[in-house]
Amino acid sequence: MSNDPMSTQAWSKLADHQKRLASIHLRDLFQSNPSRFDAFSIPWEGGILFDYSKHRIDSEVLTSLFELADTMDLAQQKSDLFSGKRINATENRAVMHMALRSSNTEYQVDGVPVMDEVRKVRDSFLTFADAIREGQWKGFTGKAITDVVNIGIGGSDLGPRMVTRALEHLTPEHLNIHYVANVDGADISATLNGLMPETTLFLVASKTFTTQETMTNAHTARDWFLSSGREADIPKHFAALSTNLTAVEEFGIAPSNMFPFWEWVGGRYSLWSSIGLSTAIGIGSVHFRALLEGAEQADEHFREAPIEENIPTIMALLGVWYQNFWDVRTQAIIAYDQRLEKLAPYLQQADMESNGKRVNKDGNPVAYSTGSVVWGEPGTNGQHAFFQLIHQGTQMIPADFIAAVKPNHDKQDHHRKLWANFLAQTEALMAGKTENEVRSELTAQGRTGEDLENLMPFKVFPGNIPTSSIVLNELTPRSLGSLIAFYEHKIFVQGVIWNIYSYDQWGVELGKQLAKRILPELENDEVKNEHDGSTVGLINWVHKTWPEFKGE
Ligand code: F6P
Repeated sequence: MSNDPMSTQAWSKLADHQKRLASIHLRDLFQSNPSRFDAFSIPWEGGILFDYSKHRIDSEVLTSLFELADTMDLAQQKSDLFSGKRINATENRAVMHMALRSSNTEYQVDGVPVMDEVRKVRDSFLTFADAIREGQWKGFTGKAITDVVNIGIGGSDLGPRMVTRALEHLTPEHLNIHYVANVDGADISATLNGLMPETTLFLVASKTFTTQETMTNAHTARDWFLSSGREADIPKHFAALSTNLTAVEEFGIAPSNMFPFWEWVGGRYSLWSSIGLSTAIGIGSVHFRALLEGAEQADEHFREAPIEENIPTIMALLGVWYQNFWDVRTQAIIAYDQRLEKLAPYLQQADMESNGKRVNKDGNPVAYSTGSVVWGEPGTNGQHAFFQLIHQGTQMIPADFIAAVKPNHDKQDHHRKLWANFLAQTEALMAGKTENEVRSELTAQGRTGEDLENLMPFKVFPGNIPTSSIVLNELTPRSLGSLIAFYEHKIFVQGVIWNIYSYDQWGVELGKQLAKRILPELENDEVKNEHDGSTVGLINWVHKTWPEFKGE
């Protein structure tokens, strides 16, 4: 057991492996081991194939990565996670989002069973979801709800928004699910435009019920509603998803319209809780339960599968391998599935808010790099935007490629082309194009001599760029649940290796505090607080450019 990954033997071995592999091309690794795909892929019974053969690894690297996980006490820390210990020490909380999707594990937090309460709340918000979806719940004029607006930000927005989009084909025609997150009035204005108060339901989604953006949008929504409805009609049109009963009541939402969850559910891990209500309304309780089952199956896999077959653990260790031994700082998420267009922004928060930490669990600065910059766009769009830099830029960008074998539409021709691009890109990133290949290609095009030689360097692709291929048999609620849970556990494992606290987010507080201080100065003429020259200059500029900016 070690507190410092850098001081482990495994770390030194990995540094040596990096030197050994730095000059070996992935092409050569494939050539020297024809069964590389079989050795480095996991066909999981949950309907997902994880192919990590196009990584700059061999079995010796894997052995050392497993040793690193072992030395950092992954097994014990996993057991602490699943047994409900307060592993989020700086907030003194357990991390128990797995309980939200459990059907057969009786999870406990601090030795207290939680599943009775979880089941009760789950049943109640899913019953509510079906009543909205099936039109039994009526608005104040007796009409069914046609538009659901989820007002939330960060974890109270990105997860439900991503899943609702991914499974949109399951949302009935008569229902529209909207998401408002930004405090920018343009967001809620555009959403409310065209909606009818009598057929609109607002879900105010906020764990704390104090988040400035969400509360501002919620008050605007309330005012908008009250322009046609009465105070007494609010219960038919507003529900709260929160842990803060007092603040919910203060806002004017009755406790009977509040679907709670618990402090041991982190915001960015909360889509499985009542925070997922907008999704549940869209896809219905049966499909929502399937989403939970898929995640539960992934939990069991993460918990039980040996490390050599453990998908989230291997995903995490590959990330550590590049981040700490290849000087890589970023991770692209490229879903070859338009339905997953919100996956990258969702994972961006899940990963970067969790592992973007600069001190270890003892509060000392780490001497190694931690969380990577997670970003991405769906393929094929990304190919025509940023792939140039991945193919021929100066930095190595490992990427997760995600696709489903079976589409949910009948446009087979599109689907085959999508897949051709998926495979072509992962192959091109791995193999690249050598000087010899470029020379033959240019010669075949009739180019010769200086003309050919001058063009050569621009046409060479170094390749050797690692990718994982995560292939779903089909994108269903169940497989999506598994996929998300795999990423959640990947983030946990990386936090263990880096010896950091993955479940707090103090780094987002400073900006919030300063915004509160600056707001009155924007409302008035005077800059009262101490600021740097740039901030003072900008405030004055705003006031001068548009005097109505101020409150009066
Ligand atoms: O961005 C910080 C954060 O605290 C996230 O962790 C969280 O998901 C988001 O704000 C929203 O918080 P709440 O659900 O309490 O409104």
